Amino acid sequence: MSRFFKAEITGVKLLNADFCILDIKPQGSHDTPLPGQFYMLQSISCYDPLLKRPFSIFRSTDDTLSFLFRIRGKATQILSRLNTGDVIDVIGPLGSSYPEPEGDFVAVAGGVGVASLYNLIEKYKGRAHFFYGAKTKEELVLVDNIRSLSKELTLVTQDCSCGVGGLVTDACADAICVTDSMLKGLHVYACGPNPMLKALNTRLAGKGVNCYVSLEENMACGVGACLGCVVKGINEYKRVCKEGPVFSMDEIQW
Ligand SMILES: Cc1cc2nc3c(=O)[nH]c(=O)nc-3n(C[C@H](O)[C@H](O)[C@H](O)COP(=O)(O)OP(=O)(O)OC[C@H]3O[C@@H](n4cnc5c(N)ncnc54)[C@H](O)[C@@H]3O)c2cc1C
Ligand code: FES
Repeated sequence: MSRFFKAEITGVKLLNADFCILDIKPQGSHDTPLPGQFYMLQSISCYDPLLKRPFSIFRSTDDTLSFLFRIRGKATQILSRLNTGDVIDVIGPLGSSYPEPEGDFVAVAGGVGVASLYNLIEKYKGRAHFFYGAKTKEELVLVDNIRSLSKELTLVTQDCSCGVGGLVTDACADAICVTDSMLKGLHVYACGPNPMLKALNTRLAGKGVNCYVSLEENMACGVGACLGCVVKGINEYKRVCKEGPVFSMDEIQW
């Protein structure tokens, strides 16, 4: 099946001034995405910006793909202003996915990193100890949905406006690093800004945790051709769009 296709907009929902959910219906057949994979999206009504932008799959059904994104610059503004019936260009599903968890697992989301993990906790409903952090409570979205899909939800805000105050990585590591034996073989999945993932590595490296991180890098082609998204791995450079975006934490040079 071709990964290049056009899709019709079937829903655009603004959650607040900064976050939007976009539902699209692929025209023709398409592959089913796995949690952690992503798509490159571009409005065809406007070629500025020229390059497609990467977005994690947020939810999917047989005929609909949904994306949750933060409105940042031109491309996300244009996507958030599309109307039902408009058509966009899409490539996907792309990249690696989160390995299947064994038993209960831990998910750590920073900001809009929640978009990538939502699909995972929905697929394995009731099994995630979910740590969801943001700068302020206004940046925490879909909290009731996430609570209903999780075994336990801990909210963390840097300005202490909601839940635990501080960094989500500290809240998570403090909660799970009670004894080393609890950590052996535990599956931890994380998506958020790179400093957050780096901090998580500092707290969890060498403790026997199976930790998988979804990295975000600026992407040009999204399909492994331009080398615009490489990061340093332990033994070699890795293309985030091709070998990633999901990596085992110990594959990456932090
Ligand atoms: C594999 C992958 C999956 C992604 N999934 C999602 C998703 O599900 N939801 C979502 O909201 N975003 C996601 N992103 C980030 C998203 O691609 C960017 O936010 C988007 O490309 C911004 O495009 P723009 O033209 O609106 O903004 P631009 O004009 O490109 O950027 C606007 C501003 O935002 C900053 N910026 C851009 N990208 C990022 C970033 N990743 N982190 C921090 N700052 C950034 C830029 O430096 C600039 O200051 C993902 C990125 C990758 C690589
Ligand atoms: S974006 Fe071109 S190789 Fe990854």
